[in-house]
Amino acid sequence: MHNVAITGTGVFTPAQTITNDELVAAFNAHADLFNAQNTDAITAGTIDEKPHSSSEFIAAASGIEQRYVMDKAGVLDPARMYPRLAERADDAPSIMAEMAVDAARTALNGKNPASVDLVLCAASNHERAYPAIAVEIQQLLGTSGFAFDMNVACSSATFGIQTAADMIRAGSIKSALVVCPEICSAHLEWRDRDCHFIFGDVATAVLLERDENLQAPYFKVKSTRCATQFSNNIRNNNGFLRRTHDQMNDRRDMQFMQNGRKVFKEVLPLVSKHIADHMEAEGVQAADLKRLWLHQANKTMNDHIGKRVLGRDPEPGEQPNILQDYANTSSAGSIIAFSKHSDDLIAGDMGLICSFGAGYSVGSVIVERA
Ligand code: COA
Repeated sequence: MHNVAITGTGVFTPAQTITNDELVAAFNAHADLFNAQNTDAITAGTIDEKPHSSSEFIAAASGIEQRYVMDKAGVLDPARMYPRLAERADDAPSIMAEMAVDAARTALNGKNPASVDLVLCAASNHERAYPAIAVEIQQLLGTSGFAFDMNVACSSATFGIQTAADMIRAGSIKSALVVCPEICSAHLEWRDRDCHFIFGDVATAVLLERDENLQAPYFKVKSTRCATQFSNNIRNNNGFLRRTHDQMNDRRDMQFMQNGRKVFKEVLPLVSKHIADHMEAEGVQAADLKRLWLHQANKTMNDHIGKRVLGRDPEPGEQPNILQDYANTSSAGSIIAFSKHSDDLIAGDMGLICSFGAGYSVGSVIVERA
């Protein structure tokens, strides 16, 4: 058995942002348009009037203040409310690959890509079924060995880290890039007031290597743990059996769907128990953890989890949030937090990365600064 280290991380952040006010203005214009087009049906009671959204509600309910997107104009067009992401020719790099390659180069930080044995593209939505996006990334970067895609929704990054770490531990590979390109804007229903504010786009990358002759600073991967439990409370029915553009326009279930309240209630105890069990199994006490890098879906939820794990309110900076700037970026959220808020830890400091979401799924990674 070999030990595993995280030796680099990278974040690709799209150039365009949408503030809550911009988002709400577009949504309200869309709602007015919808209501004007459906006056008769609304009067007859066969269709519900679309109520306005509010920036105040969004900030208070979620903690989100803005989000990054790959195409702002399409999302904010009240007659469209969907990003314009042009299909690319088969011989052009795909969007996910392009985003992931950018993040991966940052994670490699000048290291030779040929020394990487595995690319794992772990994300909630893949823009095609095959060839795997990961294999395209392998070619664009010039990495060695093999590559494959996996999807565990919001937990894709931590499940990807465990998958790659297990191969490094067993000796079948020496290093891996786990990339999470998340184009959440394409699966979000921007016309649904209950969730139109939730997601943003981003890509992250984590470089994992065998912990052998490494130059500090880096993070030792002390332990990983994954768990799943079936639930329909976060669901997207789009798939190869059901996809024509007309259907997508008509069928709400072809985009992201959630029962947010139930998710909140059910996932919170699941995650808290998962982390507590993982810590107990590894002999890690709350006082040993210098930082929590949690999945970034909802600020209140993270505050609750942080409190349950530490047994007190987290101090400022102990449990950094990035969702105010990025919104929920599915699997990438905890890795953005880790990437942006871990450099100050010193040798011996321990922390925990945890992601959770659809499935339900929850994955945790205990790390120690070296
Ligand atoms: N603007 C104004 N009001 C809104 C609104 C909006 N955009 N969206 C909903 N509301 C209203 C609702 O209609 C409801 O009104 P009512 O009380 O008159 O019925 C009220 O605000 C509360 O709505 P609710 O959906 O219960 O809000 P919430 O407090 O549960 O917050 C979420 C919504 C989505 C932010 C929250 O449930 C959440 O984050 N859940 C966890 C989600 C999660 O982790 N998902 C994982 C995804 S990967």
